[in-house]
Amino acid sequence: MPIVEARGLTKVFRRPDKDPGLAGAVKHLFTRRYTDKVAVDHVDLAIEAGEAVAYVGPNGAGKSTTVKLLTGILVPTSGSVRIDGLHPQRDRIAIAHRIGVLFGQRTQLWWDLPVAESFAVLRDIYGIDPATYRRRLQQFDDVLELGEILPMLGRRLSLGQRMRADLAAAILHGPEIVYLDEPTIGLDLAVKDRVRELFRTLRDAGTTVMLTSHDLADIEGFCRRLVIIDEGRIVFDGDLQAVKDQFARERILHVETERAVPLDAVRAALAGAEVAAGETPVQFSVRFDRFDMTAGHVVASLSGLVNLVDLRVDEPGIEDVIRRVYSGDLVLDQAGSSA
Ligand SMILES: Nc1ncnc2c1ncn2[C@@H]1O[C@H](COP(=O)(O)OP(=O)(O)OP(=O)(O)O)[C@@H](O)[C@H]1O
Ligand SMILES: [Mg+2]
Repeated sequence: MPIVEARGLTKVFRRPDKDPGLAGAVKHLFTRRYTDKVAVDHVDLAIEAGEAVAYVGPNGAGKSTTVKLLTGILVPTSGSVRIDGLHPQRDRIAIAHRIGVLFGQRTQLWWDLPVAESFAVLRDIYGIDPATYRRRLQQFDDVLELGEILPMLGRRLSLGQRMRADLAAAILHGPEIVYLDEPTIGLDLAVKDRVRELFRTLRDAGTTVMLTSHDLADIEGFCRRLVIIDEGRIVFDGDLQAVKDQFARERILHVETERAVPLDAVRAALAGAEVAAGETPVQFSVRFDRFDMTAGHVVASLSGLVNLVDLRVDEPGIEDVIRRVYSGDLVLDQAGSSA
């Protein structure tokens, strides 16, 4: 049985259509017009214990709303959520012990307390025994370097410090299910790396993780399953690597030659590829579809023409594929092939 299960999950936000100002508010009292926004639209999602899932979609797609529904922060308009068979509202306390959630855009730390005290409050709320508490703090400190942060007031933390503290706070009680909603937003590269390492540690320890991010580097190498939501609906749920293999088909070969070459001659030799000048006269790049030709074919065609000095092949990642899905350029079906 899946540990997280949503069926027909739907959330409609009702916004009052008010003209601005007091007059608008008074008028609204009598007319009561609303606009309904369907933020999450009949989402079916089942996550097995120990699974790591990437949950991606463009801005406003309904990702954070889904996470709020799955954690019981919001009540669905219709549909159901079960966490290991438990009901998010009815079994709120039992569930709170088993899930951890991080919203990168909002802090859960107490603004006016030193971080160490925020952690101590959580320790008491969750009844974490002192030895476990010390061990976890130590473990987080190794990855997140919490030492300098612990004595600081919540409101004094920089974004990167805040995120590290929030991440520790989200998993301090050792939850078996962790939702990470944009956990690396605004972090510098070094901190991102460390935070990603912590995600992998969580995953390897058997934690069920649902990760939302606009930085797809968070996702690559982290999980096998990709779920894409758009306008509240799941438009894809399947294997990340299969999608990449099938659709990340573009390759770019960067070439450096001994002497400058007329690019028209290169273009003539490589019909179907796109040839662009490089930064210097002895550099150029060849963009090709690996389904149409291989890198070997491109190199062989070039070597009859020029003396190659250096070569590098760039393979676009999942970004490229996802960008095309968002823009409506590419429709994936559930098996990971194009529909
Ligand atoms: N409390 C609310 N009241 C009204 N509308 C809301 C509320 N929360 C979210 N929405 C709307 O629901 C839709 C989905 O929002 P949500 O925050 O889930 O998107 P998201 O996928 O997390 O986007 P982002 O990538 O920008 O974080 C948006 O149109 C948003 O404006
Ligand atoms: Mg969001």
